Amino acid sequence: MATPNLKYTVPGMSDEDAARVVELVQGRLYACNDLHLTLKHVHWNVVGPHFIAVHEMIDPQVETVRGFADDLAERIATLGGSPKGTPGSLVENRTWDEYSIGRATTQEHLGALDLVYQGVISSYRDGMKELDDLDLVTQDMFIAQINELELFHWFVRAHLEDKSGGLSTAGATSETQAAAAAG
Ligand SMILES: [Fe+2]
Repeated sequence: MATPNLKYTVPGMSDEDAARVVELVQGRLYACNDLHLTLKHVHWNVVGPHFIAVHEMIDPQVETVRGFADDLAERIATLGGSPKGTPGSLVENRTWDEYSIGRATTQEHLGALDLVYQGVISSYRDGMKELDDLDLVTQDMFIAQINELELFHWFVRAHLEDKSGGLSTAGATSETQAAAAAG
């Protein structure tokens, strides 16, 4: 990701810090735009006896994550940057692979989503830690969004959990593996 060239930023922040904060927020904007599109794809592609429960569980997550994208983009503009929200820019700059599952059972998609949320949330937490020394206002936004994402992740994982608390996807390192283990 190229370092943004800022002509102004919020009062009291150095240009160097603002450039790095914009970079971190842009990374989360890509992640949220990718996640809400992926969640809709899952909403449309789940099949099986638990279709309606999972189909309907996904939509509030889509709406919330779309809201996150809006807040992140406006934070970038507030910091003097230019938010990148086009599909081409997302595909060019994302550091993860396209979601790989098409039509599949609810359990298979939830298994794959466990991996998706693991990736998204880990990156948010890395950003949250770095913001400790850069900008507590942006860090506060990250913390609020992580809180919601971790709740959604639990909704997903509760479908993959057995009575002893074990996850069917434990140890899976790819969406395909996690989907197979959950299915
Ligand atoms: Fe729908």
